[in-house]
Amino acid sequence: MTSNRRTFAIISHPDAGKTTLTEKLLLQGGAIHQAGLVKARGAARRARSDWMKIEQQRGISVTSSVMTFEKEYDGETITFNLLDTPGHEDFSEDTYRTLTAVDSAIMVIDAAKGIEPQTRKLFEVCRLRSVPIITFVNKVDREGRDPFETMDEVADMLALDVSPQMWPIGMGGLFEGLLDFRTQEVARVEGGSNEYLGMRDPLDQAAISGNFEEEYQLAQAGYPEFDLEAYRNGDLTPVYFGSALKNLGVEELIDAIARIAPPPRPQPAGEEKIGPEHDEVSGFIFKVQANMDPNHRDRIAFMRQVSGTFKRGMKLTPSGLGKPIAVHSPILFFAQDREIADTAEPGDIIGIPNHGTLRVGDTLSEKNEIRFTGLPNFAPEILRRVQLKDPTKTKQLRKALDDLSEEGVIQVFYPEIGGSSIVGVVGQLQLDVLISRLGAEYKVDAALEASPFATARWLKGTDAALRDFEKFNQGNLARDRDGDLVFMAKSAWDVGYQEEKNPDLAFSATKER
Ligand code: G4P
Repeated sequence: MTSNRRTFAIISHPDAGKTTLTEKLLLQGGAIHQAGLVKARGAARRARSDWMKIEQQRGISVTSSVMTFEKEYDGETITFNLLDTPGHEDFSEDTYRTLTAVDSAIMVIDAAKGIEPQTRKLFEVCRLRSVPIITFVNKVDREGRDPFETMDEVADMLALDVSPQMWPIGMGGLFEGLLDFRTQEVARVEGGSNEYLGMRDPLDQAAISGNFEEEYQLAQAGYPEFDLEAYRNGDLTPVYFGSALKNLGVEELIDAIARIAPPPRPQPAGEEKIGPEHDEVSGFIFKVQANMDPNHRDRIAFMRQVSGTFKRGMKLTPSGLGKPIAVHSPILFFAQDREIADTAEPGDIIGIPNHGTLRVGDTLSEKNEIRFTGLPNFAPEILRRVQLKDPTKTKQLRKALDDLSEEGVIQVFYPEIGGSSIVGVVGQLQLDVLISRLGAEYKVDAALEASPFATARWLKGTDAALRDFEKFNQGNLARDRDGDLVFMAKSAWDVGYQEEKNPDLAFSATKER
């Protein structure tokens, strides 16, 4: 059986049009349920907890959400699970982890700007995991770069084969529409503002006024043909052109995801790979979101289902807990009516309400034998000492830091010597979120101060080697939230020096639970 699920994310630089495209995708497919609106509006916005103010002020989406929609193709219903990734310029661990939970990605590029820094970073994360990518060159209704230039930039900067599937006819004031190479139809725009009214003509009957023939013939002949295997391996990207704003090229894009994007892929679990056909329900937590509703302290763990057919009430064992929990009230994002959805399939995302038992990186399974790998914590690049303004709140602070590190907002390190906790992040934005949430959700007034450390490394080695190291380096050691030993380094040089001096120890920049 081939699966009808397509689980994907959109990667882009801020302003390229991700939000607009997301809205249009949801509009085209019948959006069934949205976990968190694309951009919360009105009452929905006010109902969200205070810390999301940062999101509004800075016009960014700090939290990821899951959006599901369906479309019929040849009598079959395809279910699309779109996972939102934060679009701000700081690379965050949250983004990385979300990309571990998808099977493919759409890379949105602004036709006038080409590949921008954040697009590139996110692309690299996809490449690391061989996530196949469809490129969507957006905003063709405006004056932009020569499409050939954009194609070549994608090919050169990302070292990918590019295969155009559509081509803009003219541009800006001279823009006439989009040619679909597959169907040989032109989606035509009208009037000075390039409105698309759903008109399509066969190419040989399309009234094209300019002389663009040579250009699109060159485009069609001059690039590699689409090759499904090369795309699925992450070596080739099919390129679509369009305008999210004018709803142009969006239908072709959804169509492409349905036709060519991979169904749920096997996921790495140590030496093995677990595929959708594996004979039990399994999945992994890639995200935890706490306090979505300010009146409840509940948190939702997002599980990417890898195998089996999930049924409501089923018992699954989280790897971090070791004993089974019954999943009675899962949030099934594809359910038209939350009450009647009782099952989920590989590729789906299940929201599991819990009180802190589930953590990012946990595997859930029926038999408790699988451990999915590849959801690391990253060595922090910014370390700060947390200074309490009210010393009687020590307990609350500890609880807050533990909670937030569990959620993956920050990492926390408790030094072996000295009182103040140290928080570590990979991007500045995570610190803003931390301070804001400490105040809003935990009523803890705290400040962040410079810490003497520049980075951290998880230590691994024999007990004896670790004990030896501990004896001489106590001032530079801390424990993370799991109690694992961490070397706090003052500089990258410091790491290198200690590595050389202690060949029996591994100084790891990532940690997998
Ligand atoms: P983002 O989520 O990637 O950050 O981008 P977003 O969709 O918010 O789009 C950024 C800006 O680009 C918006 O304009 C949006 O209307 C515009 N835009 C998106 N797609 C297209 C397109 O295909 N053609 C044209 N011409 N513009 C497009 P804004 O003025 O910044 O915001 P708004 O006030 O219109 O929401």
